[in-house]
Amino acid sequence: MVDAVVTSPPYVGLIDYHEQHRYAYELPGLADNRQSEIGAAANGQGGAAKDAYCADMTSVLLNVVSKLRTGGTLVVVAADRHALYPGILGSLDVVQRHVMKRHVNRRTGRRGSHFHESIFICAKE
Ligand SMILES: C[S@@+](CC[C@H](N)C(=O)[O-])C[C@H]1O[C@@H](n2cnc3c(N)ncnc32)[C@H](O)[C@@H]1O
Repeated sequence: MVDAVVTSPPYVGLIDYHEQHRYAYELPGLADNRQSEIGAAANGQGGAAKDAYCADMTSVLLNVVSKLRTGGTLVVVAADRHALYPGILGSLDVVQRHVMKRHVNRRTGRRGSHFHESIFICAKE
């Protein structure tokens, strides 16, 4: 059992992490597992992609929460522009204590726009 988990899950249909970090598995000769990537950009942001994302992230977080002690803390950092996390977190054995909004305006300089991400702070019941 663990006291706390802080996680930053993938987005829905925004980034193809395997493509972005191709060198990280090609150089050491690791398998390409892009078909297992959650929220891959290649799958788009349509209804089916969002449903698959919610099912996948619910499954991942159910597993995570099963390792948390009662009263333990789950922190999820998400740019939840499709408002999926209230539903995902609502299906877990946690109570949402607080949602912080973080203004993201300082990245690598490659991104001209800025946005807000949500930091969901939950406790296991
Ligand atoms: C927003 S990033 C967070 C990265 C990480 N917190 C870090 O700081 O390096 C989401 C991560 O989820 C990973 N991911 C997507 N689908 C996955 C899966 N099925 N199993 C494991 N990781 C996955 C992506 O490759 C990406 O590294």
